[in-house]
Amino acid sequence: MISVAIDGPAGAGKSTIARAAAKALDFLYVDTGAMYRAIGLWVRRAGKDTHDGEAVSGCLPGIHLELGYENGVQQVYVNGENVSEAIRTPEASMDASAVSAIPAVREFLLEQQREIARKNNVIMDGRDIGTVVLPHAQVKIFLTASPEERARRRYEELCQKGEQVTYEDVLKDVVQRDHNDTNRAAAPLRQAEDAVLADTTGRSLEESIELIQGLIREKLKGAEA
Ligand code: DC
Repeated sequence: MISVAIDGPAGAGKSTIARAAAKALDFLYVDTGAMYRAIGLWVRRAGKDTHDGEAVSGCLPGIHLELGYENGVQQVYVNGENVSEAIRTPEASMDASAVSAIPAVREFLLEQQREIARKNNVIMDGRDIGTVVLPHAQVKIFLTASPEERARRRYEELCQKGEQVTYEDVLKDVVQRDHNDTNRAAAPLRQAEDAVLADTTGRSLEESIELIQGLIREKLKGAEA
């Protein structure tokens, strides 16, 4: 099986780019952020503090997570409920960031993520795919862009969805999440030593997709040779 790991900060375009590349290569696209979001959502709904390690760990045995695909689009189910829409709010982003810092949550998801990669050719995106989840991935890409550009993209995405947000608030969220994701003790966001750095600042989505697909093809050719 072939694994492509794409890591990077929030809003770098990972999911859109990874999804497009997966489609072109006929690989399974796995958005691991959605798994953390689903847990965050469930914990909040249970009325627990998403920062409280003990409370969050206590929720895990009651959470059954499943990934499915509808017309090639990943769907995430918690205990049978499709939460794919509900996990996309700014509140759910902060909850995901909080629960993702809890080691028990990371452990809970690690084996599920590895299992998917054992059975499928995958493009998996997240924060720790190249460093922790799939350290032997044939291709590792660290995708980034400036915080301002990432905030602008996310702001436009949320506005299109009709969310009432300001650019300043989105930028604050991006900077806060970068800080949380980079400074946590458990599997912090960092570039794997053997990952290729790709900066999409100033590039259109199409240009970014082309860049990443080119990198993947080149690496896979090298891996075959
Ligand atoms: O990629 P995203 O914005 O959907 O991720 C939501 C949160 O989950 C983000 O704050 C970091 C965390 N995350 C993680 O810690 N490890 C991953 N592999 C994926 C996401």
